[in-house]
Amino acid sequence: MQLFHTGLVALTVAPLALARTFTVTNNCSYTVWPAIFTDPNVGTAVPDHPTGWEAPPRSSVSFMVPDNWASGRIWGRRDCDFDANGNGTCVDGGCNGGLVCDPHNGIGATPASLAEWTLGTNGNPDYYDVSIVDGFNLPIRIDNDKGCHVADCPVDLIPDCPSPLQGPFDSAGNAAGCKTACAAGIDHNQADSANCCTGSHSTPDTCPASGVQYYNYFKDNCPNSYVYAYDEGSGTALWTCDSGLQADYTLTFCP
Ligand SMILES: *[C@@H]1O[C@H](CO)[C@@H](O)[C@H](O)[C@H]1NC(C)=O
Ligand SMILES: *[C@@H]1O[C@H](CO)[C@@H](O)[C@H](O)[C@H]1NC(C)=O
Repeated sequence: MQLFHTGLVALTVAPLALARTFTVTNNCSYTVWPAIFTDPNVGTAVPDHPTGWEAPPRSSVSFMVPDNWASGRIWGRRDCDFDANGNGTCVDGGCNGGLVCDPHNGIGATPASLAEWTLGTNGNPDYYDVSIVDGFNLPIRIDNDKGCHVADCPVDLIPDCPSPLQGPFDSAGNAAGCKTACAAGIDHNQADSANCCTGSHSTPDTCPASGVQYYNYFKDNCPNSYVYAYDEGSGTALWTCDSGLQADYTLTFCP
């Protein structure tokens, strides 16, 4: 039986050689509910895994991701309460659909730390990053098995989160996230805001990092992550890996 099973796996996996193995590990001391979203306007190839699941502390899952996965993201949801049908809500990161996110519009509610990928085809590199552009809810790290750069926000930014940015709060009153200055509504006119890079601040030149309040709190703690819309200028926001290397990636919560 064991031999037969091994043979079967080899036969079914071989034609799918142009795929990567992704591993999602919850190294937190608490349960996280990971979620996957693939922007349907960019690509139709999706990971071979449900778009949402429960990850107990110290658990891991691995799955195949097609080589042409484009504009995909994985994040963790905190303090969720789902019923037996998978209906329910989370304090942050929650998506339309409940436990299993809607493939069309199941983007997470902010604040949420995001791991983002566009895998390379036709000689283009893989692009990947950790983004806290939409706020922070969990420390995360993207590793790979080919020696390409680590992307991470490994520090828990919640305990020292500046008070105007703290929240949302769980039922015990503990902060479960640290919002961006934009999301926290510090600028009353969000349509024309230096913190949000909108209106007269909507280009890299008119929305420099120096104009984003609390930028240094996020970037100093998480230098290898994207911390505001035009953070590519930092040189340490967006990472690439030669797609010819066919890297496998590991995403760890609470690395
Ligand atoms: C809960 O889940 C069931 C089964 O998927 C569904 O039919 C129902 O509409 C859901 N209820 C709510 C309130 O979303
Ligand atoms: C898991 O977390 C512990 C601290 O709780 C840390 O020492 C360890 O390096 C982490 N493991 C991984 C794989 O990130």
